[in-house]
Amino acid sequence: MARVTVAPVMLIISFFQRKTLFSTSLASGQPDAVDDLGLHNILWITKHESRVILSWNNNLTEEETEKYTVKYILSYKFFNTTHERKERLQEKKKIIRLELHSGFNAKVKTQLLAKETEDIIKESGWTEFTYKAPPVYIQNLSCIIYNISFFNCTWHIKTEAPEDTQIFFSYRHVGKDFECQQYIKNARKKNIGCHMKEIYFQPSRKINLNITVRDLRNNSGGLSYYKAFVPQTIEKLNPPINVSVSLENRSIIIHWKPPPTIGSARSKCFLYQVKITDRKIVDVTAEKYEYPFHKPAKKCAAQVRVKKDVCIRNKIWSEWSEPVFIHSEKTVDVMLLSLTLFCLLIFLGGLLICAFRRYRCLEVITTPVPHPSDNIKTWLAADETHHQKQMSMQMEMHSEVTMGTPEENGDEIILKQWRRLKASGLENP
Ligand SMILES: *[C@@H]1O[C@H](CO)[C@@H](O)[C@H](O)[C@H]1NC(C)=O
Ligand SMILES: *[C@@H]1O[C@H](CO)[C@@H](O)[C@H](O)[C@H]1NC(C)=O
Ligand SMILES: *[C@@H]1O[C@H](CO)[C@@H](O)[C@H](O)[C@H]1NC(C)=O
Ligand SMILES: *[C@@H]1O[C@H](CO)[C@@H](O)[C@H](O)[C@H]1NC(C)=O
Ligand SMILES: *[C@@H]1O[C@H](CO)[C@@H](O)[C@H](O)[C@H]1NC(C)=O
Ligand SMILES: *[C@@H]1O[C@H](CO)[C@@H](O)[C@H](O)[C@H]1NC(C)=O
Ligand SMILES: *[C@@H]1O[C@H](CO)[C@@H](O)[C@H](O)[C@H]1NC(C)=O
Ligand SMILES: *[C@@H]1O[C@H](CO)[C@@H](O)[C@H](O)[C@H]1NC(C)=O
Ligand SMILES: *[C@@H]1O[C@H](CO)[C@@H](O)[C@H](O)[C@H]1NC(C)=O
Repeated sequence: MARVTVAPVMLIISFFQRKTLFSTSLASGQPDAVDDLGLHNILWITKHESRVILSWNNNLTEEETEKYTVKYILSYKFFNTTHERKERLQEKKKIIRLELHSGFNAKVKTQLLAKETEDIIKESGWTEFTYKAPPVYIQNLSCIIYNISFFNCTWHIKTEAPEDTQIFFSYRHVGKDFECQQYIKNARKKNIGCHMKEIYFQPSRKINLNITVRDLRNNSGGLSYYKAFVPQTIEKLNPPINVSVSLENRSIIIHWKPPPTIGSARSKCFLYQVKITDRKIVDVTAEKYEYPFHKPAKKCAAQVRVKKDVCIRNKIWSEWSEPVFIHSEKTVDVMLLSLTLFCLLIFLGGLLICAFRRYRCLEVITTPVPHPSDNIKTWLAADETHHQKQMSMQMEMHSEVTMGTPEENGDEIILKQWRRLKASGLENP
């Protein structure tokens, strides 16, 4: 029983110790390469086109290496950024992609951990390193893939960029190099973007951009900056298609279908937003949305937009779809009714004009209007007697019903009924 409870407590304590040690030592970064325990690191850098390889060693004895687990804490921050990245690594190197950064500050330290418990036995002080890259003359690089096969990238030229430079754009994708098809230029004829079309993208293979700033006065290679990303993460989808409104089970439902995409088209990959006039935008994962009110107060428009969310992280929303209109049932009825009435009126008007014209024609011929025929007269008379018969029959049925009322006051009611019938003079045999 005691063992069962002790073990987790120990674990918690050791976790706590490690955690506090880790954070305090990170916070109090000493610039010295050597600490009291006599461990130290040497840091160096090798540069390859788009990346910087940061390497280090330790001066542990073989015995120590055998006995303990050796780990390194690496912390680095790009110039002019606030975000500090911290990692605990087992290997003695780290590949850092500079992208559009002009350098970084890095520091590393060694930790000796007990093999079983991973408790920290010993750790070195920080060894720091600053890497300064050549100047970067562009910023705010942003790229999108849209309408399946279109690709746009734009960037800003920093003010400190030399006057006689031009910017060139190319990329590598699935082992092939592509040059920019059409540059977007600013007023000073500098390239500030690239527009490409009819591009086929492999959604999960990286696009490696190469943006080169060249000095136009001399033939030197210029400065190249590199950035890589997966096509799916920069895809701007077309708006959802076939957006429609229907009435199901007495509620209004908006339906749509996902647009085509370069990546996975599984329905769970899409996140939609529905916007209905004057209402808050709602997130929807299904391909339909039930209008939460029985009937809209007035005619309102529904629009839907989409992005990939679950399968791949993507921040770019599509444009809103063309609005579809939700009519309240009443509005539809009134509109239909007025339309029908309008048509009817026109029809009747037409008929009247026709009839009028025809009548005038007849008048010209001066045919006398015939008297009502005897047939009509007899028919009218027959109808009158028929009508009277029906009345008396109705009266009979009525009195029968009243007679069927409960016993108490029954006589009185019958009497009243009788009197009323008599008074109204309907009681003819
Ligand atoms: C590691 O290097 C530091 C500084 O050079 C030295 O003081 C320490 O004794 C060395 N440790 C080992 C195990 O060699
Ligand atoms: C960026 O940081 C570097 C080094 O810390 C500094 O020399 C440079 O002036 C900074 N640039 C800007 C635009 O803040
Ligand atoms: C461009 O990027 C800089 C820093 O990299 C930022 O301060 C600035 O606001 C950005 N400009 C635009 C228009 O996004
Ligand atoms: C989208 O792509 C299709 C087919 O490639 C093309 O016909 C259409 O014009 C494009 N739409 C836009 C807005 O570029
Ligand atoms: C892409 O660039 C072209 C050319 O400048 C422009 O016409 C188009 O609107 C851009 N498309 C997007 C989605 O930014
Ligand atoms: C990047 O582009 C420049 C200019 O076109 C070229 O000189 C350089 O070799 C390219 N870099 C890579 C890695 O392809
Ligand atoms: C040629 O380009 C290099 C590298 O960009 C630069 O250091 C050098 O000053 C340039 N030479 C001239 C004559 O502009
Ligand atoms: C969208 O609507 C059109 C025309 O009504 C139809 O041909 C097409 O199959 C529909 N697409 C989907 C994905 O339902
Ligand atoms: C309508 O409601 C019934 C019961 O609530 C349900 O079984 C049916 O699937 C619904 N029909 C539609 C089209 O939503």
